[in-house]
Amino acid sequence: MYYPDELIEEVRAGNDIVDVVSGYVRIQKKGSSYFGLCPFHNEKSPSFSVSRSKQMFYCFGCGAGGNVFTFVMQYENYSFQEAVKLLADRAGVNLPEIEYGEEVKKRESKKARLLEVNKEAAKYFYYQLRAKNGQAGYQYLKKRQLSDETIKKFGLGYANVTSDDLIRYLKSKGYEDQLITEAGLGSFDEKYGMHDKFWNRVMFPIQDSNHRVIGFGGRVMGDAKPKYLNSPETMIFDKSRNLYGLNFARTARAGNMILCEGYMDVIAMHQAGFSQAVASLGTSFTAGQANLLRRYVGEVILAYDSDGAGVSAALRAIGILKEAGLTGKVLNLEPYKDPDEFMKNLGKEAFEERIRTAENSFFFELRMLQREYDLNDPESKTAFHREIAKKLCGFSEEVERENYIEAVAGKYHIGFDNLRKLVLTYATQTGFAMPAARPKSGIQKKSDPKENQKKPQKLLLTWLVDEPALWPKVKKYISPNDFTEEMYRIIAEKLFADLDAGTLNPAAIISLFTDEEQQREAAGVFNTKLMELDTKSEREKAFHDILLSVKRNSLDYFSSQLGADVSAISKVIEGKKELEELSKTHISLD
Ligand code: CTP
Ligand code: MN
Repeated sequence: MYYPDELIEEVRAGNDIVDVVSGYVRIQKKGSSYFGLCPFHNEKSPSFSVSRSKQMFYCFGCGAGGNVFTFVMQYENYSFQEAVKLLADRAGVNLPEIEYGEEVKKRESKKARLLEVNKEAAKYFYYQLRAKNGQAGYQYLKKRQLSDETIKKFGLGYANVTSDDLIRYLKSKGYEDQLITEAGLGSFDEKYGMHDKFWNRVMFPIQDSNHRVIGFGGRVMGDAKPKYLNSPETMIFDKSRNLYGLNFARTARAGNMILCEGYMDVIAMHQAGFSQAVASLGTSFTAGQANLLRRYVGEVILAYDSDGAGVSAALRAIGILKEAGLTGKVLNLEPYKDPDEFMKNLGKEAFEERIRTAENSFFFELRMLQREYDLNDPESKTAFHREIAKKLCGFSEEVERENYIEAVAGKYHIGFDNLRKLVLTYATQTGFAMPAARPKSGIQKKSDPKENQKKPQKLLLTWLVDEPALWPKVKKYISPNDFTEEMYRIIAEKLFADLDAGTLNPAAIISLFTDEEQQREAAGVFNTKLMELDTKSEREKAFHDILLSVKRNSLDYFSSQLGADVSAISKVIEGKKELEELSKTHISLD
């Protein structure tokens, strides 16, 4: 069920955007707007603006923008419905209960119970760590140089040596065996009856990105096997779609995420101030996790163990990152095994330096590949070059591929033309990439015809928002249907109705869209700065051109849609007349 528009508007109007944003970002008044450092990209001087009159935010640096819903969606990584809920609570607006079917209700209540029982278990472990018989756990964590603050931040705990105390505790709180088993916290045994899954281990609660405990990892304090024991997958614990530490990392805004192998690595890094560190959950890195990271960053730095297993895991992860459209880099932790040990021995400045000098993932792949060849042997060396050429075929974008051929040729002392020829051979053989002529100068950007049609439509809307007084003069020439871009048509419908009624309300128009991308684009309509033109006649000509171009495009569009539809034909004829009239009409901007 979706909430009715009026209710959404009530929630929006009840949350002043300046107040809401101030709760997250430090902004200062400058002229009619507020400015601050953009929370959605890395910057040193403020280009993030919030307007009280428009009830919108917009970043001139990265183009992020929208109304108060957009802001909450982006900052909290919420869906539109979730943002509405949060802001309704904040403004004290009552939302009707959403009606679900029986099945969904059952599932939801089961999930809620699983979350509850996990939370209760986390509390119990946490308490045990501080109790008298939790000393062994506490000492272990101290030995690993974790501060009390870190232990608290990650909610670390202890499962003591008694084998059924957690179960007894949970039962006393009203949780039944069935649920405890389903949550993976205990299991039934013919001989022992119900008993705890975790026993004599330090406990790492695993939280989802909203800080809810969804499972546990437990580590032995000595050398026993298995070293880590993890909760099984449950309705709320999908190991391929969650990452350890993401609940903190998602607001780190470091411009990158550091992906490591273990819980302890993540914790050690956060303790040293690298709060962008995350790890997969005892399983290998997945495409689902890559997509999760892509919501926050474009670059992922791999900080996997420097042993053989770590290298092959890193090579796998590189492929997955690339697939997801993320840039990968690889951290060199030598001579240490993992980030935790590195941090302990060399400290955070040295770690920062390693981040700065992290290796491009393609070069890392080649370096690892090289280890399998003997470059002093011409035969082996040729085979190595062939493998390089094959790998280079993986870049489907011409410019990128050419750049890599150039870089690799230089790095491995292979003649550029020879390498290029070799790549071409493999490319044609496999039918994948087809290297074209080397671009002569710079990057050639083709203009997209669709973009060319969109632009005047957007500008016309922006102009009308900026100068609503123009509306009565142009309304007879233009209708929402002239906007062939669906989202602009939707905006036009509402905007024109508002202009007719004299109640222009940009922020409410943005709520027409529930998708973040669309909200951002809609916000662009209201925040684009129109070109600065000196004379009135220049401005009038520009406006006239834009109007004509929108009209012409709409006519072209409807003509191309012409079938046997008679009404469409008359529409086109009518449109032609209008266009002629418009081209002869002078519209004054006074
Ligand atoms: N892991 C696991 N089960 C094991 C061993 C490892 O689930 N038996 C997972 C854990 O998530 C662990 C990660 O793999 O954090 C990395 O393993 P490893 O490098 O062996 O552990 P560290 O994180 O280095 O742990 P520690 O520093 O405590 O030895
Ligand atoms: Mn370790």
